[in-house]
Amino acid sequence: MVLKEDTPSSTTPQQASTTSPTFKPTVASTMPTISASNEWSPLRSLLIGRASHSLFPSEPPHMTRATMPSAHRSQFRSLNPFPAHIVAKADEELDNFARVMTERFGIKVYRPREVDWAKTNMGTGGYTGAMPRDGLMVVGNTMVEACMGWGCRRDEVEDAYGGFLQMIMQEARERGESVRICRAPKIVGRDSVYDGLLDLPDGDPDEHVDVGVHGPNESSEMGWAINNTRPAFDCADFMRFGTTIIGQLSHVTNRKGVDYLRAVIPEPYTVELLNTTDDHAMHIDATILPLRQGTLIYCPTRVTEEELRRHEVFKNWDLRPLPWNPEEETDEEDDGPPRYMCSKWLVLNAMSVDEKRIVVEEKQERFARWLEQEFGMEVVRLPFRHVNSLGGSFHCATVDLVRGES
Ligand code: ARG
Repeated sequence: MVLKEDTPSSTTPQQASTTSPTFKPTVASTMPTISASNEWSPLRSLLIGRASHSLFPSEPPHMTRATMPSAHRSQFRSLNPFPAHIVAKADEELDNFARVMTERFGIKVYRPREVDWAKTNMGTGGYTGAMPRDGLMVVGNTMVEACMGWGCRRDEVEDAYGGFLQMIMQEARERGESVRICRAPKIVGRDSVYDGLLDLPDGDPDEHVDVGVHGPNESSEMGWAINNTRPAFDCADFMRFGTTIIGQLSHVTNRKGVDYLRAVIPEPYTVELLNTTDDHAMHIDATILPLRQGTLIYCPTRVTEEELRRHEVFKNWDLRPLPWNPEEETDEEDDGPPRYMCSKWLVLNAMSVDEKRIVVEEKQERFARWLEQEFGMEVVRLPFRHVNSLGGSFHCATVDLVRGES
């Protein structure tokens, strides 16, 4: 199953290649192994995913209907690989992204090992190594592993990032740093998270069916595609804003998942839930995008300014809705591969290098120009449409390990 070793790349260009052998990265002694408390301070160390062997995730029909766009749902079958040319291009885009981060910005980049996803999960198959944001999150000096809701992702962190986690723990130990990795409790055997939900009528697989509608702040789990029988959450349903972590309930994040996260993060971090109105909610990083301390862009069809302001942390922030609806744009200028798993709000899934610089998909010219003109950002345009096709963009495909001044 393990095809390639974890390959940290250093700040020297020759070593940024993903096929370079494992070696000890030379790091400035001032840089911690993991340390991050927001989404915008200068990025200094980063994990970037790998696309090879990605499969369409296979979950029960009610989950696919709740979270995936209707057009391609028949593809979401067990062991069905994404088209090979898309995966190959996605890997090129990820490698290029890694190279740019290393060479142009001096960021230390780690890459996960290559995994044959068809052989994982005891032969039932996994999904991808291209979306590490969903499974891992750094909060202060603690790395938290998600308690994933999806069965096909149960072993994803161990399979793709297990070796990487051991390596950073080893690095931290050698340097005498106090670092904590909070691995998720392992479920062996039957999972209860879909109990009571599997008998929902199948309906027409091409029809867009809501499993249920959830109102703001309702504690009822009935509208969700998972129940609340055990902690479930994806890290991508949460974002750091200093000591306040803002998150959402979703089809992959339940109340017990939020309680679990609250219990494992270090003091003085706290978690607050944003009431989003996204019937297909799964991951908050296409709903809000902080650009820097004090400035946040949001999707106005999924969250209101009033709701954001309810949170103390956003009191004096400049909160800006994206002034157009990407769903209403035609695809004429964008002849890229299908976004099998995401809406066009993925435009907000950009990744900050620091408070001035941000990485945006190169076809999103309207968005890039808006960021430049309206906010004075320096936009780094990189190709990522094939990664988008697999389910996410720059924010999803990364885990920030160290953010902050040296
Ligand atoms: N569910 C979001 C949308 O369709 C996409 C979120 C992707 N994020 C991620 N971390 N994989 O707009």
